[in-house]
Amino acid sequence: MDDSVLAVLHRVSDAAARHDAAQADRLDRWRVLEPDAGRFLWFLTQAVDARRIVEIGTSRGVSTLWLADAARATGGQVISFDPDRAAQDDAATSLADAGLAGYVDLRPEDGGAGVAGLADGEVDLLFLDAERTEYPSWWPHPVRVLRAGGVLVADNALSHPDEIAPLEALLRRDLTAVTTIPVGKGELVARRL
Ligand SMILES: C[S@@+](CC[C@H](N)C(=O)[O-])C[C@H]1O[C@@H](n2cnc3c(N)ncnc32)[C@H](O)[C@@H]1O
Repeated sequence: MDDSVLAVLHRVSDAAARHDAAQADRLDRWRVLEPDAGRFLWFLTQAVDARRIVEIGTSRGVSTLWLADAARATGGQVISFDPDRAAQDDAATSLADAGLAGYVDLRPEDGGAGVAGLADGEVDLLFLDAERTEYPSWWPHPVRVLRAGGVLVADNALSHPDEIAPLEALLRRDLTAVTTIPVGKGELVARRL
C-alpha cells in the first residue's frame, strides 16, 4: 500500500472519529472500519486472489479504500452498495484522492437487492458492513453468488455477537469453514467449498 492511500485512510478515519464523537444516534455515525480489520481485509482479498469483490455498506469508504487497494494488486474490481448517496459522494472523493477511483463501482442502492441481482458464483469476496439484522433476509444470495473457494466477511462479530448470530448460523449451515478473527470489531469469515 502506498503512502498516498495511507494518507487518505488516515484523513477519513480521523474525520470519522471527530464526526462520530458528536453524534448521539448510532445511525448518524459513519462507523468506519478499524485499521487492523482493514489491513486484515486487504490481506485476505489478496490471499484468495479476489478479483470480483462486493461490499455492502460503503459509508465514507474506509473499507472500500482497503478493498480497492487490494483490487489494484489482484487486477480486480470492487462493487460497493450503499443507498446513502451523500456518503458515497464522499467515498468517491476519497477514492479519487487515493488514485483508486478506477477500481470501484459505487452503486447508491440497497445491498440486499444488489446481491440478489448478481449471478451464481460470480463473487470472490463479499464484505458485509451494513445493518447486521438485515443479513438473514438476503438469503440465499450471499452464499449463492460466491464462487467455490470464495469468502464472505462480516464486520462486528465481536462487538455485536447477538446481531451476528443469525448470520453465523446460516453460514455454518451452508458453508464449510467459518470462524471469527479477533481484529477490529471482530471479522466473521466463511469460505464456500
Ligand atoms: C458501518 S457503516 C459502513 C462503514 C464502511 N464499511 C467503512 O468502513 O467506512 C454502515 C453503512 O451501511 C449502509 N447500509 C445500511 N443498510 C444498507 C443496505 N441495505 N444496503 C447497503 N448499505 C446499507 C449505511 O447507509 C451505512 O453507510
